[in-house]
Amino acid sequence: MSLKITHLRHIALKTPDPATLAAFYQDKWGLKIVAEEANRFYLRGVGPERFVLVLEPAGRRGISRLAFGLENRVAVDEAARELAAQGVTIYRQPAELVTPGGGYGFQLIDPEGRCLELSTDVSPADQAESWDAPVRPNKISHVVLNTADFEGIIEFFTTRLGFRVSDWSEQQMVFLRVNSDHHSISFNRAPHSSLNHVAYELPDMNEVMRGIGTLKRHGVSPMWGPGRHGPGNNVFCYFQDAAGYVCEYTAEVQKIDEATHQPEVWQRVPEKMDRWGISGPPSPEARAAMGGEPDPGLLDQVKR
Ligand SMILES: [Fe+2]
Repeated sequence: MSLKITHLRHIALKTPDPATLAAFYQDKWGLKIVAEEANRFYLRGVGPERFVLVLEPAGRRGISRLAFGLENRVAVDEAARELAAQGVTIYRQPAELVTPGGGYGFQLIDPEGRCLELSTDVSPADQAESWDAPVRPNKISHVVLNTADFEGIIEFFTTRLGFRVSDWSEQQMVFLRVNSDHHSISFNRAPHSSLNHVAYELPDMNEVMRGIGTLKRHGVSPMWGPGRHGPGNNVFCYFQDAAGYVCEYTAEVQKIDEATHQPEVWQRVPEKMDRWGISGPPSPEARAAMGGEPDPGLLDQVKR
């Protein structure tokens, strides 16, 4: 396995009304719109990533792509070649990227139809650029994905893409890392493939609390939280955005020591899902929002 993903870069989401959703993420959530073309919005956080969220027009919701970093152009070419040799569907061959910041990358399709982009050389965001917002997320901390093929998708992400298992939540969820962050991706066993939620990293617990207050002033109440998770030990608070997607403010996620870490199987009991015991388990409404609707992605384009 020579494929070494460095980090989670961005997620692109489809929505019938990108402008309204972009306004939610800029005016209420604390991101900044850095580019717009053909009703497609690119938003950044304060971290070095050129953009962390893309909102694209489409008739229905769904994930358009998930993007991860690779070390350099040689790694991009090698990854595309190795994955193709393993029978993985390459959707776009390695090429210069035309999204803001440029770069070089390729796209593959995972077994459930998700488009994954692996890239390098995207020029970083201007660290001198600032904007006025009560809280400003640094980056996407993690994305949780619902899967109808729990064992199969874990096998694909670990053996093909080099993700490592950090922890389990019984046999319901798995937390996968590519660097010292406890998880960049998590899979949740579900009836169908879809987006569960996207978590945005804030500097610390205090900022999560200020974020909750900011959203309350905008009339947006927490859907679940605040609390502190068992697996990952991160502070969390979940909300629904203007399109009904579930978004999370998080902070203080566990850092993994690669040399010593042993995955643990966490029990799914209220005191392990929220260690503080403030919020308990998510409500049926929150679970329904996190379930989303079936998202076939690019499955119809996978040549079998
Ligand atoms: Fe989360």
